[in-house]
Amino acid sequence: MKTPHLNQAAIVAAARLLEAGELVAFPTETVYGLGADAENPAAIAKIYAAKGRPSNHPVIVHIASQAEAARWAAELPEPAQRLMAAFWPGPLTLIVKRAASVPDAVSGGQDTIGLRCPSHPVAQALMREFKNGKGGIAAPSANKFGHVSPTTAQHVRDEFGVEDGSPLACVLDGGQSTVGIESTIIDVSRMDSHGPVLLRPGSIGADAIAAVIGVHPTTQDQEAPRVSGSLPSHYAPRSPVALVASLDCAETLQSLVARGRRVAVIAHGAARWETTGPQSVAVTRLPDDAAGYAHGLYAALRELDAAAPDIILVEAPPRDAAWSGVWDRLQRAAHDSTGALQSLLA
Ligand code: TXA
Ligand code: MG
Repeated sequence: MKTPHLNQAAIVAAARLLEAGELVAFPTETVYGLGADAENPAAIAKIYAAKGRPSNHPVIVHIASQAEAARWAAELPEPAQRLMAAFWPGPLTLIVKRAASVPDAVSGGQDTIGLRCPSHPVAQALMREFKNGKGGIAAPSANKFGHVSPTTAQHVRDEFGVEDGSPLACVLDGGQSTVGIESTIIDVSRMDSHGPVLLRPGSIGADAIAAVIGVHPTTQDQEAPRVSGSLPSHYAPRSPVALVASLDCAETLQSLVARGRRVAVIAHGAARWETTGPQSVAVTRLPDDAAGYAHGLYAALRELDAAAPDIILVEAPPRDAAWSGVWDRLQRAAHDSTGALQSLLA
């Protein structure tokens, strides 16, 4: 597998590989994507195989500009157009009714499509070069199904390998993703019956959405289209994760260490509690603001996870709306670890 440096020649080469039906990983401002030509069902099948993802889970189609949306959507309701104008290019995915020409493989057999126009300069350059800016790049996050999303090119290489057998034809390196968690997803495909629905919180919050379309999105309901990122245990590292209230962190950590447990800690902001301890404790301190925290979260989870600790202890962040995307990812990361902390303390 080649890992070209970030330059126009690398981007042109990546576009040609996509056009030839190959998989190309590329940076976006949220997380790295695992891209394939959205008009080529055989190429999309490679995404599902590489990720180990069930084939009824739809993938987002990345496009170069708002002007391209009409080719993929059967209809673009006014709120969708306003949201695109306000937030594209940027970390917002819109679910709309799909055009008849969109392959079933993209939509997981549903009658909708997820559209996103990323702002990362490398993603922008790639989309302009690919099919002369007229194509769509189907791209889920470039991680194995259920695992933590990648925010650097190295994360992608760690995930899929760099040997000859790698499913990726190339990885474009665009540095560390600035946002760090996946795009906000708003379903505007059922405006008449449901209004706008927030399917996945992200850095663009519900209030910012409401400010543009004049109505607050509701949260997910039973009838909403399937979102694999909304499975309870998505975005999980391999080590158990426990969310612990700030006030209880010091005591919990002490008790774990006293029992000889190997603990990793994600704290945030100024040091409010004692995390310096024996070598058995690895501490990562993330910023105290939601954007800074989101930016570093997945890299921290991956790095701590790599040492296979008995548990990753996460100091619970604040509860305000700005943190809803971060909370969503932390709760999913911790979902399969229910009881892990108690049994390590037993
Ligand atoms: O920030 C992001 O959105 C990143 C970057 C690479 O763009 N992509 C990403 O893709 O997070 P993925 O596949 O890991 O998550 C997209 C979510 C999935 O949970 C998928 O089920 C949902 O969007 N989705 C895609 N198309 C959909 C549709 N037509 N209806 C409902 N959900 C859809
Ligand atoms: Mg994903």
